Order: sequence, then C-alpha cells, then structure tokens
Amino acid sequence: MKTTASAPGKIILFGEHAVVYGRPAIAAPVSQVRATAVVENSPAPGIRLIAPDLGQEMMLTEAPPGHPIAAVIRQFELAAGLPALPNLTITVTSDIPIASGLGSGAAITAAVIRALCRHLGLDDYLTPAWISAQTYEVEKIHHGTPSGIDNTVVSWEMPVYFARRKPQNRIETFTAAAPLHLLVGDTAVSSSTKEVVGDVRRRWEADPDTFNAIFDGCGRIARAARQAIEQGDLTTVGRLMNENHQLLQEMTVSCPELDRLVTAAQQAGALGAKLSGAGRGGNMIALVTPETAGAVTNALRSAGARAILTSILQ
Ligand code: MEV
Repeated sequence: MKTTASAPGKIILFGEHAVVYGRPAIAAPVSQVRATAVVENSPAPGIRLIAPDLGQEMMLTEAPPGHPIAAVIRQFELAAGLPALPNLTITVTSDIPIASGLGSGAAITAAVIRALCRHLGLDDYLTPAWISAQTYEVEKIHHGTPSGIDNTVVSWEMPVYFARRKPQNRIETFTAAAPLHLLVGDTAVSSSTKEVVGDVRRRWEADPDTFNAIFDGCGRIARAARQAIEQGDLTTVGRLMNENHQLLQEMTVSCPELDRLVTAAQQAGALGAKLSGAGRGGNMIALVTPETAGAVTNALRSAGARAILTSILQ
C-alpha cells in the first residue's frame, strides 16, 4: 500500500517578524509549489527515509541528530502515542525552493505528518489543526521562536489572518472582494529564518522602543490591509505593501537584492511590493493587475529574479 499527501508553499503578505511579537499578520498558500510525501509498507525492517532531491537515503536509526525528516517522525510518534511505527519507506520531494521564505520546511513536515496519518488510518488526527500543531513543534526545533503562522497556512491551505495568542492563536480566514494577483520573485539569495529571526530578537532586546514602534506599525498595516482586501481596495493594499517593506528595511531584514526587485516592480507599475518571509534573501511579492503583470514580470527578470511564480488570492 502506498499513500501520498502534500502541502503547499506560503507567502507572508503582511506582518512578518512583527507576528513573532504578537502583532497580526496575513499569509496565503502558494499552491503551485508543493512538498509531497509518499509512505509505503516495506518488507525490510525499520523506517527508510528517501529524499531524492537531496540525494539522501538512510534508515531512521542512522539519521544524524537534527535531520529534518527524522525530527518529523519522532514528533509524530510522540504526539500520536505510537511507541514504534511499522516497517515503512518514506519518500519526500519538494519543488518549494529551500531557504527562500516560501515555507519549504513547514510544508515538508505537514506533508509527512498527513501522509503518515492517512497511511496508518489515524483519521481522528487528520485535521488541519492537529497537523498544524505537530508542524509547529518541529518548526520550534529548527527555527527557535516561530510565531506559528507558517505551519498554520500550510496546514489549512487557506489565506489566514493570524495573531499569536495564548492559550490559543487567533486564526481567521477571510475573502478578498477582488482577486489579488501576486508575483513572487526569487532573489536566489538563500537565507536562514532562524538566523534572521534571532538577529531581530537581539536588535529588539538592544533597542526595544524602536523595535516595538516598528512592530506596532506592521500590526496597524496588517489590520488595515485585511480591511482593504475585504473591500477590494487594491490601491490601498498595494500602498500598505510598500509601507510594510519600508518598516522591514528599518528592521534591517531587507538586502540589496530584495530592494532591487521591490523597486523594479514598483517602477514597472505594480500596485505595491515588499519582501516576503524572513528576508535577507529569499522572495519578494508584487501586487499586479492582469494588465501590468507582463511588464512587472519583465522588470523583475531584468532586475535579477531567478524564478517568478504567480499566486492569485481570492
Ligand atoms: C517566516 O515565514 C515569518 C517570520 O515572521 C517568522 C515567524 O513568523 O515565525 C519571519
């Protein structure tokens, strides 16, 4: 028997970093890039992990500490209360670029957990909430202090308005009154979310007043953006993206490559543009109309974008 499950990439539309400090943020899935996990019964003893994209094949027992897929399986065993899994082969592939702000780690984790639940007939656990909660536990191992927005959006595969809260995060979905046509441009500069989030924390600790004011600004922008999206006011959504990018520059998480793509998109007629995700590399997003999409795509290519995806939020 063979079971397949997948999870999408994601973009942060508004509020990255500030969301770690309790301000609201908006994220959306990017469904055309996905992580896929295939679980099969195996005649050989143990659990074999195969990651063809990385040229890796190993037994779970041989996986080094911190191996991303091994960490997922250990979390799954713990949370599902299964002391030992049957003999399995687990193959993971992904077309979500790694270290690019598109949530590849969270998507791989969610896909593996979903495939294991389906394969083992654990239907009670096959809910976005349970998969998201387990993905969050694994994100904590890799990213230190994640807000929870990445695991939420890849597990629910819906646009979300998210705020980190105790005992329960605020997770709301919403509808765009007019579709948002987004281009996602890759700088080709890889960036570690853990390092960037850690550096922002050090800067916040050193200068809390400045950083709290920046985070407050991001929170105000995310709230206003949700309203503008729900009203179909795309001009305001675009303006708010530009403002959010400026605050991310003040946070020091932009970089010349991201700024170049953002400026190119703005000058070519995008309604707005900003970096998306942890920053210091990875991806940026631009809000376009069907009429401006071609010109902005060309401008992004000329400004050095390695790959350009389109994502429509509706
Ligand atoms: C990463 O996609 C978004 C950050 O805000 C980190 C997080 O929310 O955990 C930078």
